Amino acid sequence: MNQSGFESIKTVGVVGAGTMGHGIAQVMVKSGLSVILHDLAEKLLTAAVEKIGRGLSRDVEKGRMTAEERAQALGRLKITTDLAAMANADFIIEAVIENFATKAAVFRELETLARPEVILASNTSSISISKLATQTRRPAQFVGLHFFNPVPVMKLVEVVPGLDTSPATVEVATALASSLGKTPIRVNDYPGFVSNRVLMPMINEAVFCVMEGVGDAAAVDGVMKLGMNHPMGPLELADLIGLDVCLDIMRVLYEGFHDSKYRPCPLLEKMVAAGRLGQKTGKGFYEYPVAK
Ligand code: 3HC
Repeated sequence: MNQSGFESIKTVGVVGAGTMGHGIAQVMVKSGLSVILHDLAEKLLTAAVEKIGRGLSRDVEKGRMTAEERAQALGRLKITTDLAAMANADFIIEAVIENFATKAAVFRELETLARPEVILASNTSSISISKLATQTRRPAQFVGLHFFNPVPVMKLVEVVPGLDTSPATVEVATALASSLGKTPIRVNDYPGFVSNRVLMPMINEAVFCVMEGVGDAAAVDGVMKLGMNHPMGPLELADLIGLDVCLDIMRVLYEGFHDSKYRPCPLLEKMVAAGRLGQKTGKGFYEYPVAK
Protein backbone atom coordinates (compact mmCIF):
# COMPACT_ATOMS: atom_id res chain seq x y z
CA MET A 1 0.00 0.00 0.00
CA ASN A 2 1.39 3.41 -0.96
CA GLN A 3 1.01 5.58 2.07
CA SER A 4 1.09 9.40 1.80
CA GLY A 5 3.87 11.29 3.56
CA PHE A 6 3.30 14.22 5.89
CA GLU A 7 3.91 16.78 3.10
CA SER A 8 0.88 15.52 1.17
CA ILE A 9 -1.49 16.29 4.06
CA LYS A 10 -3.46 19.41 3.17
CA THR A 11 -6.93 18.49 4.41
CA VAL A 12 -7.63 16.70 7.69
CA GLY A 13 -10.95 15.05 8.47
CA VAL A 14 -12.06 15.36 12.11
CA VAL A 15 -14.93 13.09 13.11
CA GLY A 16 -16.73 14.40 16.20
CA ALA A 17 -17.18 18.10 16.99
CA GLY A 18 -17.30 17.86 20.80
CA THR A 19 -14.76 19.41 23.16
CA MET A 20 -11.81 17.45 21.78
CA GLY A 21 -12.89 17.40 18.13
CA HIS A 22 -13.49 21.12 17.81
CA GLY A 23 -10.29 21.86 19.75
CA ILE A 24 -8.33 19.68 17.33
CA ALA A 25 -10.04 21.37 14.36
CA GLN A 26 -9.13 24.79 15.80
CA VAL A 27 -5.41 24.08 16.13
CA MET A 28 -5.36 22.55 12.65
CA VAL A 29 -6.98 25.46 10.79
CA LYS A 30 -4.82 27.84 12.79
CA SER A 31 -1.69 26.08 11.57
CA GLY A 32 -2.71 26.29 7.90
CA LEU A 33 -4.44 22.95 7.29
CA SER A 34 -7.93 22.65 5.84
CA VAL A 35 -10.38 20.73 8.01
CA ILE A 36 -13.58 18.83 7.28
CA LEU A 37 -15.36 18.64 10.65
CA HIS A 38 -18.09 16.02 10.95
CA ASP A 39 -20.78 15.42 13.52
CA LEU A 40 -24.25 13.91 13.45
CA ALA A 41 -26.26 17.08 14.10
CA GLU A 42 -26.05 20.48 12.42
CA LYS A 43 -26.61 22.12 15.81
CA LEU A 44 -23.43 20.58 17.26
CA LEU A 45 -21.44 21.76 14.25
CA THR A 46 -22.78 25.31 14.47
CA ALA A 47 -21.85 25.40 18.17
CA ALA A 48 -18.37 24.06 17.32
CA VAL A 49 -17.80 26.74 14.67
CA GLU A 50 -18.86 29.40 17.13
CA LYS A 51 -16.42 28.10 19.77
CA ILE A 52 -13.58 27.88 17.24
CA GLY A 53 -14.37 31.44 16.11
CA ARG A 54 -14.24 32.62 19.74
CA GLY A 55 -10.97 30.77 20.36
CA LEU A 56 -9.38 32.40 17.32
CA SER A 57 -10.74 35.84 18.33
CA ARG A 58 -8.86 35.40 21.59
CA ASP A 59 -5.69 34.79 19.53
CA VAL A 60 -6.33 38.05 17.64
CA GLU A 61 -6.92 39.99 20.88
CA LYS A 62 -3.68 38.56 22.29
CA GLY A 63 -1.72 39.46 19.10
CA ARG A 64 -1.06 35.79 18.22
CA MET A 65 -2.71 36.21 14.81
CA THR A 66 -4.20 39.03 12.72
CA ALA A 67 -7.91 39.44 12.01
CA GLU A 68 -7.17 38.55 8.40
CA GLU A 69 -5.37 35.34 9.41
CA ARG A 70 -8.34 34.49 11.60
CA ALA A 71 -10.73 34.92 8.67
CA GLN A 72 -8.49 32.76 6.47
CA ALA A 73 -8.33 30.07 9.16
CA LEU A 74 -12.12 30.00 9.46
CA GLY A 75 -12.30 29.85 5.65
CA ARG A 76 -10.34 26.57 5.82
CA LEU A 77 -13.00 24.98 8.04
CA LYS A 78 -15.82 23.01 6.39
CA ILE A 79 -18.55 21.35 8.42
CA THR A 80 -20.68 18.41 7.40
CA THR A 81 -23.15 15.83 8.72
CA ASP A 82 -22.27 13.51 5.82
CA LEU A 83 -19.39 11.18 6.65
CA ALA A 84 -18.89 10.57 2.91
CA ALA A 85 -17.15 13.99 2.82
CA MET A 86 -14.17 12.21 4.45
CA ALA A 87 -13.33 10.89 0.98
CA ASN A 88 -11.63 14.29 0.46
CA ALA A 89 -9.43 14.06 3.56
CA ASP A 90 -5.69 13.28 3.44
CA PHE A 91 -5.58 12.21 7.11
CA ILE A 92 -8.53 11.43 9.38
CA ILE A 93 -8.78 11.71 13.14
CA GLU A 94 -11.71 10.34 15.11
CA ALA A 95 -12.82 12.11 18.29
CA VAL A 96 -16.27 10.69 19.04
CA ILE A 97 -17.45 9.46 22.46
CA GLU A 98 -15.21 7.14 24.46
CA ASN A 99 -17.04 3.94 23.67
CA PHE A 100 -15.57 1.02 21.76
CA ALA A 101 -18.72 0.09 19.83
CA THR A 102 -19.28 3.69 18.67
CA LYS A 103 -15.68 4.19 17.60
CA ALA A 104 -15.59 0.78 15.91
CA ALA A 105 -18.68 1.65 13.85
CA VAL A 106 -17.10 4.96 12.78
CA PHE A 107 -13.89 3.23 11.70
CA ARG A 108 -15.72 0.52 9.76
CA GLU A 109 -17.44 3.27 7.79
CA LEU A 110 -14.28 5.34 7.39
CA GLU A 111 -12.52 2.27 5.99
CA THR A 112 -14.93 2.28 3.06
CA LEU A 113 -14.81 6.06 2.54
CA ALA A 114 -11.17 7.06 3.02
CA ARG A 115 -8.73 6.72 0.15
CA PRO A 116 -6.50 3.64 0.58
CA GLU A 117 -3.33 5.64 1.30
CA VAL A 118 -4.96 7.72 4.06
CA ILE A 119 -3.95 7.22 7.72
CA LEU A 120 -6.75 6.77 10.25
CA ALA A 121 -6.09 8.07 13.77
CA SER A 122 -8.05 7.91 17.01
CA ASN A 123 -8.03 10.47 19.80
CA THR A 124 -9.11 7.75 22.24
CA SER A 125 -7.95 8.40 25.79
CA SER A 126 -7.64 4.74 26.75
CA ILE A 127 -9.16 2.23 24.31
CA SER A 128 -6.69 -0.20 22.72
CA ILE A 129 -5.35 1.12 19.41
CA SER A 130 -4.49 -2.44 18.32
CA LYS A 131 -8.12 -3.48 18.85
CA LEU A 132 -9.60 -0.42 17.12
CA ALA A 133 -7.27 -1.03 14.18
CA THR A 134 -8.86 -4.44 13.60
CA GLN A 135 -12.05 -2.66 12.55
CA THR A 136 -10.23 -1.52 9.41
CA ARG A 137 -8.27 -3.23 6.67
CA ARG A 138 -5.32 -0.88 7.22
CA PRO A 139 -3.87 -1.65 10.70
CA ALA A 140 -0.44 -0.52 9.46
CA GLN A 141 -1.97 2.91 8.76
CA PHE A 142 -3.79 3.21 12.08
CA VAL A 143 -2.45 5.16 15.06
CA GLY A 144 -3.48 6.80 18.32
CA LEU A 145 -3.14 10.58 18.46
CA HIS A 146 -4.18 11.62 21.94
CA PHE A 147 -4.72 15.36 22.52
CA PHE A 148 -5.34 17.02 25.89
CA ASN A 149 -8.05 19.35 27.13
CA PRO A 150 -8.08 22.31 26.52
CA VAL A 151 -6.55 21.38 23.15
CA PRO A 152 -5.42 24.89 22.08
CA VAL A 153 -3.46 25.28 25.33
CA MET A 154 -2.01 21.86 26.18
CA LYS A 155 1.33 21.08 24.54
CA LEU A 156 1.26 17.28 24.66
CA VAL A 157 0.09 14.80 22.04
CA GLU A 158 0.60 11.12 22.90
CA VAL A 159 1.42 9.20 19.71
CA VAL A 160 0.37 5.59 20.22
CA PRO A 161 1.24 2.89 17.68
CA GLY A 162 -0.79 -0.31 17.82
CA LEU A 163 0.86 -3.72 17.39
CA ASP A 164 0.68 -3.50 13.58
CA THR A 165 1.19 0.24 13.06
CA SER A 166 4.02 0.89 10.60
CA PRO A 167 7.00 3.12 11.48
CA ALA A 168 6.03 5.31 8.49
CA THR A 169 2.60 5.95 10.03
CA VAL A 170 4.16 6.89 13.37
CA GLU A 171 6.49 9.27 11.54
CA VAL A 172 3.62 11.01 9.73
CA ALA A 173 1.49 11.30 12.89
CA THR A 174 4.45 12.69 14.83
CA ALA A 175 5.24 15.24 12.11
CA LEU A 176 1.59 16.30 12.00
CA ALA A 177 1.47 16.85 15.78
CA SER A 178 4.73 18.86 15.63
CA SER A 179 3.38 21.00 12.79
CA LEU A 180 0.54 22.06 15.12
CA GLY A 181 3.06 23.42 17.63
CA LYS A 182 2.51 20.42 19.93
CA THR A 183 5.11 18.16 21.49
CA PRO A 184 4.49 14.56 20.46
CA ILE A 185 5.58 11.83 22.86
CA ARG A 186 5.50 8.25 21.64
CA VAL A 187 4.14 5.70 24.09
CA ASN A 188 3.06 2.10 23.64
CA ASP A 189 -0.43 0.69 23.49
CA TYR A 190 -1.44 -0.41 27.02
CA PRO A 191 -4.61 0.63 28.84
CA GLY A 192 -4.63 4.37 29.56
CA PHE A 193 -1.28 4.79 27.72
CA VAL A 194 0.92 6.84 30.12
CA SER A 195 -1.22 9.93 30.67
CA ASN A 196 -4.42 8.37 31.94
CA ARG A 197 -2.70 5.45 33.67
CA VAL A 198 -1.03 7.98 35.95
CA LEU A 199 -3.65 10.75 36.04
CA MET A 200 -6.86 8.78 36.53
CA PRO A 201 -5.79 6.76 39.59
CA MET A 202 -4.79 10.10 41.17
CA ILE A 203 -8.23 11.58 40.43
CA ASN A 204 -9.90 8.35 41.64
CA GLU A 205 -7.90 8.48 44.88
CA ALA A 206 -8.93 12.13 45.36
CA VAL A 207 -12.57 11.00 45.09
CA PHE A 208 -11.89 8.29 47.72
CA CYS A 209 -10.53 11.05 50.00
CA VAL A 210 -13.83 12.93 49.67
CA MET A 211 -15.91 9.76 50.11
CA GLU A 212 -14.03 8.78 53.25
CA GLY A 213 -14.21 12.30 54.67
CA VAL A 214 -10.45 12.87 54.68
CA GLY A 215 -11.26 16.31 53.28
CA ASP A 216 -13.94 18.00 51.20
CA ALA A 217 -13.36 18.79 47.50
CA ALA A 218 -11.91 22.23 48.24
CA ALA A 219 -9.49 20.79 50.81
CA VAL A 220 -8.32 17.97 48.53
CA ASP A 221 -7.84 20.37 45.60
CA GLY A 222 -6.19 22.96 47.83
CA VAL A 223 -3.63 20.41 49.06
CA MET A 224 -2.70 19.38 45.52
CA LYS A 225 -2.53 22.97 44.18
CA LEU A 226 -0.62 24.50 47.06
CA GLY A 227 1.43 21.49 48.09
CA MET A 228 2.26 20.04 44.66
CA ASN A 229 1.93 23.10 42.43
CA HIS A 230 -0.71 21.46 40.23
CA PRO A 231 -2.46 24.17 38.18
CA MET A 232 -5.85 22.64 39.02
CA GLY A 233 -6.84 20.28 41.82
CA PRO A 234 -7.71 16.71 40.79
CA LEU A 235 -11.43 17.24 41.44
CA GLU A 236 -11.59 20.51 39.48
CA LEU A 237 -9.79 18.66 36.70
CA ALA A 238 -12.25 15.76 36.90
CA ASP A 239 -15.07 18.30 36.48
CA LEU A 240 -13.27 19.73 33.41
CA ILE A 241 -12.66 16.30 31.85
CA GLY A 242 -16.14 14.98 32.72
CA LEU A 243 -16.78 12.49 35.53
CA ASP A 244 -18.30 10.04 33.04
CA VAL A 245 -15.07 10.11 31.01
CA CYS A 246 -12.99 9.59 34.20
CA LEU A 247 -15.18 6.61 35.17
CA ASP A 248 -14.98 5.10 31.67
CA ILE A 249 -11.18 5.34 31.79
CA MET A 250 -10.99 3.78 35.29
CA ARG A 251 -13.10 0.90 33.97
CA VAL A 252 -10.74 0.43 31.01
CA LEU A 253 -7.77 0.31 33.45
CA TYR A 254 -9.58 -2.07 35.83
CA GLU A 255 -10.69 -4.43 33.07
CA GLY A 256 -7.45 -4.10 31.10
CA PHE A 257 -5.05 -4.92 33.95
CA HIS A 258 -7.36 -7.13 36.06
CA ASP A 259 -5.90 -5.36 39.07
CA SER A 260 -8.00 -4.12 42.00
CA LYS A 261 -5.79 -1.06 42.43
CA TYR A 262 -7.74 0.47 39.52
CA ARG A 263 -11.22 -0.09 41.00
CA PRO A 264 -13.41 2.95 40.40
CA CYS A 265 -14.38 4.81 43.58
CA PRO A 266 -18.06 4.15 44.50
CA LEU A 267 -18.61 7.91 44.94
CA LEU A 268 -17.44 8.50 41.36
CA GLU A 269 -19.90 5.83 40.17
CA LYS A 270 -22.71 7.36 42.23
CA MET A 271 -22.10 10.89 40.91
CA VAL A 272 -22.09 9.67 37.30
CA ALA A 273 -25.29 7.67 37.92
CA ALA A 274 -26.88 10.86 39.29
CA GLY A 275 -25.87 12.86 36.20
CA ARG A 276 -23.34 15.02 38.06
CA LEU A 277 -20.79 14.94 35.27
CA GLY A 278 -18.92 18.17 35.98
CA GLN A 279 -18.75 21.40 33.95
CA LYS A 280 -20.84 20.08 31.06
CA THR A 281 -23.91 19.39 33.23
CA GLY A 282 -23.40 22.33 35.58
CA LYS A 283 -22.63 20.16 38.61
CA GLY A 284 -19.82 17.84 39.62
CA PHE A 285 -17.61 18.41 42.66
CA TYR A 286 -18.38 22.11 42.08
CA GLU A 287 -21.21 24.03 40.43
CA TYR A 288 -21.01 25.83 37.06
CA PRO A 289 -23.27 28.03 34.97
CA VAL A 290 -24.47 25.88 32.04
CA ALA A 291 -24.84 27.53 28.61
CA LYS A 292 -28.41 27.13 27.35
N1 3HC B 1 -10.41 26.30 26.34
C1 3HC B 1 -9.54 27.06 25.66
N2 3HC B 1 -8.62 27.84 26.25
C2 3HC B 1 -8.60 27.87 27.60
C3 3HC B 1 -9.48 27.11 28.38
C4 3HC B 1 -10.42 26.29 27.71
N3 3HC B 1 -11.27 25.51 28.37
N4 3HC B 1 -9.21 27.34 29.68
C5 3HC B 1 -8.20 28.22 29.70
N5 3HC B 1 -7.83 28.53 28.45
C6 3HC B 1 -6.77 29.45 28.04
C7 3HC B 1 -7.06 30.85 28.50
O1 3HC B 1 -7.86 31.53 27.55
C8 3HC B 1 -5.67 31.41 28.59
O2 3HC B 1 -5.19 31.73 27.30
P1 3HC B 1 -4.66 33.18 26.90
O3 3HC B 1 -3.23 32.97 26.58
O4 3HC B 1 -5.47 33.55 25.72
O5 3HC B 1 -4.86 34.11 28.07
C9 3HC B 1 -4.81 30.25 29.04
O6 3HC B 1 -5.58 29.08 28.74
C10 3HC B 1 -4.51 30.30 30.51
O7 3HC B 1 -5.76 30.37 31.15
P2 3HC B 1 -6.02 31.17 32.50
O8 3HC B 1 -4.98 32.23 32.66
O9 3HC B 1 -7.45 31.57 32.57
O10 3HC B 1 -5.95 30.08 33.61
P3 3HC B 1 -4.79 29.16 34.06
O11 3HC B 1 -3.46 29.80 33.98
O12 3HC B 1 -5.27 28.66 35.35
O13 3HC B 1 -4.78 27.95 33.00
C11 3HC B 1 -5.46 25.81 32.36
C12 3HC B 1 -5.93 27.20 32.72
C13 3HC B 1 -4.55 25.87 31.14
C14 3HC B 1 -6.71 24.99 32.03
C15 3HC B 1 -4.66 25.22 33.59
O14 3HC B 1 -5.45 25.31 34.74
C16 3HC B 1 -4.23 23.81 33.39
O15 3HC B 1 -3.23 23.53 32.76
N6 3HC B 1 -5.00 22.87 33.98
C17 3HC B 1 -4.72 21.43 33.84
C18 3HC B 1 -5.32 20.94 32.55
C19 3HC B 1 -5.03 19.50 32.32
O16 3HC B 1 -4.42 18.78 33.12
N7 3HC B 1 -5.49 19.01 31.19
C20 3HC B 1 -5.35 17.62 30.81
C21 3HC B 1 -6.61 16.89 31.14
S1 3HC B 1 -6.47 15.17 30.84
C22 3HC B 1 -6.91 15.00 29.24
O17 3HC B 1 -7.32 15.91 28.54
C23 3HC B 1 -6.77 13.60 28.72
C24 3HC B 1 -8.10 12.98 28.46
O18 3HC B 1 -7.87 11.76 27.83
C25 3HC B 1 -8.93 12.76 29.72
